[in-house]
Amino acid sequence: MSYLENFTFITTLKKGKGHMPENINYKLESIGMIRTPYQNNAPYQPVDADGEEFYAIIDHKYVEGLSDLKKFNYIYLIFYADRISREVEMMVSPPWADGKKVGIFASRSPVRPNPLGLSIVRIKKIVENKIYTSGLDVFDKTPLLDIKPYIKDLDNKDNANYGWVAEMDDMAHLSLHIKGIPHDY
Ligand SMILES: C[S@@+](CC[C@H](N)C(=O)[O-])C[C@H]1O[C@@H](n2cnc3c(N)ncnc32)[C@H](O)[C@@H]1O
Repeated sequence: MSYLENFTFITTLKKGKGHMPENINYKLESIGMIRTPYQNNAPYQPVDADGEEFYAIIDHKYVEGLSDLKKFNYIYLIFYADRISREVEMMVSPPWADGKKVGIFASRSPVRPNPLGLSIVRIKKIVENKIYTSGLDVFDKTPLLDIKPYIKDLDNKDNANYGWVAEMDDMAHLSLHIKGIPHDY
């Protein structure tokens, strides 16, 4: 079965101004889909879980491309948030940020001009065209656009910081939200 025919996204940019490109077609095709137990409510960030309920299923035509992936502990899953129902706004307030408004591009909101999500997950096992992972923060049957390995030293930066989140009160509590760690409020 091919998942591709169900999830093909083609965007045509209107005639641009200034530095914007003119009439360029971008075509993205999903490489598979993500399966999770979440139908319409998911954590804000991945929450780890036991079991085999989180996996990415890859279209058969891309399976050879999974070679050597299992040598990595962690991967990025890049997905298309296909069930956005809200209007995109340039200023947003993350649900855990106590009403603070920040620019959309300084947030991890899925409601953005291109609704792409990026989640880092641990590979548990790969069986044929299924990559079983630690917990995910996406709805069941979300289109998967790409997979990339998370590479030690290349991807973790020693001087990374918390940006505007560090300006919030109760930073310790908020960092639990950021990391998707379950806790009592
Ligand atoms: C805050 S985003 C973070 C996604 C990713 N970890 C990131 O940082 O880009 C996670 C939320 O996206 C929403 N979401 C997940 N899958 C979706 C889908 N297929 N369509 C629309 N919204 C989705 C859920 O409300 C979930 O809580």
